[in-house]
Amino acid sequence: MPALALDGGPQVRTRPFPPRRPFGEREVELAAQALRSQNLFGPGGTMVPELERRFAALYGLPHAVASTSGTAAIHVALGALNPEPGDEIITAPITDAGTIAPIIFQNCVPVFADIDDTYNISPRDVEARLTPRTRAIIAVHLFGNPCDMDALAAIARSRGLTLIEDCCQAHLTEYKGRLCGTIGDIGCFSLQQSKHMTCGDGGLTITRDPALAERMALFRDKGWPRKPGARGYVLLGLNYRMTELQGAVALAQIEKVADVVRRRNELGDRLSALVREAPGVLPSPVTPGGRHTYWSYGLRVVGHDPVRFAAALRAEGVPCGQGYIGKPIYLCMEPLASRRTFGASSHPLDGCHGGRRLDYAEGLCPRTEAILREMVTLAIHEHLADDDIADMAAAISKVAAGLGTRA
Ligand SMILES: Cc1ncc(COP(=O)(O)O)c(C=O)c1O
Repeated sequence: MPALALDGGPQVRTRPFPPRRPFGEREVELAAQALRSQNLFGPGGTMVPELERRFAALYGLPHAVASTSGTAAIHVALGALNPEPGDEIITAPITDAGTIAPIIFQNCVPVFADIDDTYNISPRDVEARLTPRTRAIIAVHLFGNPCDMDALAAIARSRGLTLIEDCCQAHLTEYKGRLCGTIGDIGCFSLQQSKHMTCGDGGLTITRDPALAERMALFRDKGWPRKPGARGYVLLGLNYRMTELQGAVALAQIEKVADVVRRRNELGDRLSALVREAPGVLPSPVTPGGRHTYWSYGLRVVGHDPVRFAAALRAEGVPCGQGYIGKPIYLCMEPLASRRTFGASSHPLDGCHGGRRLDYAEGLCPRTEAILREMVTLAIHEHLADDDIADMAAAISKVAAGLGTRA
């Protein structure tokens, strides 16, 4: 076994990995078509309504509402739900701030459930954190791996809670043959640059419920029904409207997303198979009954120092990160950790009606904190070749064996 590159040995990989190139001639053509129309305003256009129709059809649901980002898509879901101030929303501690900020802006309290070995919220811990103030669950399908949706849907059903799926990293992810985003009441998607389908920034929110869909569309457009007659604003909403330029690019991306997801699934599963025997390495989990779509590939290093493991992997020529967001979101979102949200206040974190005080501090979700310390993430994308995955696997196996024999 050659020495680790970290110790001056030869690198497994000397060439850079190929970049992802998500856009092609079809995006150029549709974006040009939007520009030539002399209208880039979504509500008066053709691209955004067509994107909404096509995305809803892709998911087999009647309604999709386009918006400006994944964060907006989640806020659109919560705005349509219209919870009472101080209501609690249970969600995941490993996620982007875009899952959490809309909860706070909607005057609700984020409650974090701990995760299990799938990296997703444990249904058992969700149950443990329910209170009479719980209004909804936002299940985050982290990295494209589905949550245990049977169990979460059963909890939501039995308690009369709304189940929202954060599919920002999980386009066309499947759970027991069903698409994530269609299992709960509402599904939310990001079209940010790194996502399976993208227009740089954008969002989509889907539902089968016509009343929710109507409120979602209103919330996205300042509460404005845009009907003939006197202009009025029927609910408190924001301007989260997608433009025709974003719509045009996203429309072109819909034609590709199934192939993107198929390839990522193939590559991610292959990497797992290749590193299964690597000592001290747990490959990316796949939830039973799930089809992982690998927005990112997250493995766990349990037999070595994960920080050193990641450094050794980078030295071998394989870019990787340690810990994804480093700490759980309740510790790395300063407004939560320091309880300073609006002005000098902690509103609405203490509940708006004398609710309990939740401390967003270390120890809140111990399993999450432990798993994040062990996690190493690799960038997987559809433009990698089989050889690229073989090199990643070879580097992981070399580092696992090399670090293991050092002591
Ligand atoms: C799980 C998750 N939720 C929400 C968001 C927010 O999406 P956006 O960045 O498009 O606002 C992201 C994006 O990174 C995400 O990964």
